[in-house]
Amino acid sequence: MQRTHYSQQINQNLVNETIQVCGWVHHRRDHGGIIFIDCRDRTGLLQVVFNPDQPELFKKAETLRNEYVVQISGKVCLRPKGTENAHLKSGAVELQATQLIILNTSAPLPISIDAYTPVSEEVALRYRYLDLRRPEVQERFRLRTHVVQLIRRFFDEKGFLDIETPMLTKATPEGARDYLVPSRIHPGEFYALPQSPQLFKQLLMMSGFDRYYQIVRCFRDEDLRADRQPEFTQLDMEMSFCNEEAIQTLNEALIRYLFKELLDVNLPNPFPRMTYATAMQRYGSDKPDLRIPFELVDIADLVKDIEFKVFSGPANDAQGRVTALRIPKGGDLSRKAIEEYTQYVAIFGAKGLAYIKVIDRALGLEGLQSPILKFIPEATVEAILQRVAAESGDIIFFGAGTAKMVSESLGALRVKLGHDFNGVKDEWSPLWVVDFPLFEYDAQEKRWQALHHPFTAPKVNDAAELQADPGSCLSRAYDMVLNGCEIGGGSIRIHDTHLQSAVFDLLNINEVEQKEKFGFLLEALKFGCPPHGGLAFGLDRLLMLMTGAKSIRDVIAFPKTQTASCPLTRAPSPVSDQQLKELSLQIRKK
Ligand code: AMO
Ligand code: AMP
Repeated sequence: MQRTHYSQQINQNLVNETIQVCGWVHHRRDHGGIIFIDCRDRTGLLQVVFNPDQPELFKKAETLRNEYVVQISGKVCLRPKGTENAHLKSGAVELQATQLIILNTSAPLPISIDAYTPVSEEVALRYRYLDLRRPEVQERFRLRTHVVQLIRRFFDEKGFLDIETPMLTKATPEGARDYLVPSRIHPGEFYALPQSPQLFKQLLMMSGFDRYYQIVRCFRDEDLRADRQPEFTQLDMEMSFCNEEAIQTLNEALIRYLFKELLDVNLPNPFPRMTYATAMQRYGSDKPDLRIPFELVDIADLVKDIEFKVFSGPANDAQGRVTALRIPKGGDLSRKAIEEYTQYVAIFGAKGLAYIKVIDRALGLEGLQSPILKFIPEATVEAILQRVAAESGDIIFFGAGTAKMVSESLGALRVKLGHDFNGVKDEWSPLWVVDFPLFEYDAQEKRWQALHHPFTAPKVNDAAELQADPGSCLSRAYDMVLNGCEIGGGSIRIHDTHLQSAVFDLLNINEVEQKEKFGFLLEALKFGCPPHGGLAFGLDRLLMLMTGAKSIRDVIAFPKTQTASCPLTRAPSPVSDQQLKELSLQIRKK
């Protein structure tokens, strides 16, 4: 059994040749005593014709049903004039069948693999192997393969070594919960699946490898979203004797290379840099989508002294923020639409969504429409309108409250309005976000948390400077953002034992815990650790953007659902008592 050609290779040049194809019956049509089938292989479709003048063959072809697996021999012929199909690579020709072998039959499919019939995600994943038969789905995996090939070529050429790190390991803190694996040999003890190879790649720098990369699976037990999976793939890299500039230059060159080679897109050189503070101030997000033109404009200084407590309260609070978001041509929004946006920002904790519609800017107060005008002096209203450069036809939304909540809610509203108003420019918009704070204060737990991870170097000269004012210390971390999606992040690391201990102290990780969790790292730092840093890309996220997919599930062959389960294999699932016993485990009943 041998195929001579894939369907995509079959065209006018093969006319009159006898060839053999293998694939699936994509479609069968009976037309005036002739049977046509579209035979599908991984490259596309080929029209095959069965004529009644070969009665036995014709009879066999009559038994064909969708998704039967076939091997067909025949002669390549030009299609009759007017019946060519410009959408197919093989559309100028057809195969006049002379032999048909039915290699397998197929039950009727539970899901249509026709591109135009949507199915629920649960069902699509239950039959993922069928879902994956769809040509446009397969196309994404071809791109995925090419991306990985080019990544390897890029790093190989630059002298990076591909080194594997353990999957059964100890917890690496990246801010999510760990997936644990019980040990049979050590009852009551557990491995953790890596959230990232962070600690191992640092150890490899201490070993002197100098340049490391790996395409590696990571595991994080966290709340899932469209751009998050419990297991996902990182392109992980690390370098010694370098600063952040060197790492950024190298990695943006990689992304430019991938976009040029695979999509023929020229990304900017260099990528723009934006500080975290600016990103939060102007876009309310540390991953700003710069394709959307709307910006947040702070007005706290204008409303400090007014009676309206909703605004003046946060305006006088060091942790507060009062900001405005002007949407040109938004003045036509209905009450109902505004109510929906109010409910949207409520998800982020906003207690309301004040607004001013500018009907006619020339008419002053008379030309405005808003539920808050009665609370705000005319001069203040005028100052706000001037600050945001209001024009007739605009709507201006307001957010007031804690800086965190206001940035989050109006930042998200900005993106939503950008899409709703067709205001997202059709372009690629990469940037680096830099100068992150080192720590974030966790008000609930009443302690500092590392914004990135605890191995990121602070922008200070020594531990004393850090301890003096941890809250305002910046870090040497950087994120790469593309079209509002964080596709990668990294940092220069701490390579000094004392500074690393000082950071652990500030994070409230006591000495016993430090030893228990990261003793090996602290010890390794003592033995001639070079300055080093690196970065990891979310490969699935990058592919999601490159393929235009809506979710990273679309670029992962066998992804999990939003509840971290696999409808196909039905994982996770209970295990036998025998297995539990071997692992010295007992299930605690709720
Ligand atoms: P970070 O935690 O930022 O950094 O992860 C790097 C990149 O991985 C992607 N990513 C994910 N993709 C899919 N599903 C998830 N659950 C998920 N979580 C993260 C993101 C992110 O930018 N060790 C550091 C890197 C370093 O410092 O070198 C790290 O893992 O695109
Ligand atoms: P209230 O005084 O609660 O009736 O609110 C008056 C107006 O301010 C309403 O239009 C609310 O939607 C809006 N509003 C209330 N709280 C906030 C807030 N935190 N941020 C922005 N607007 C708000």
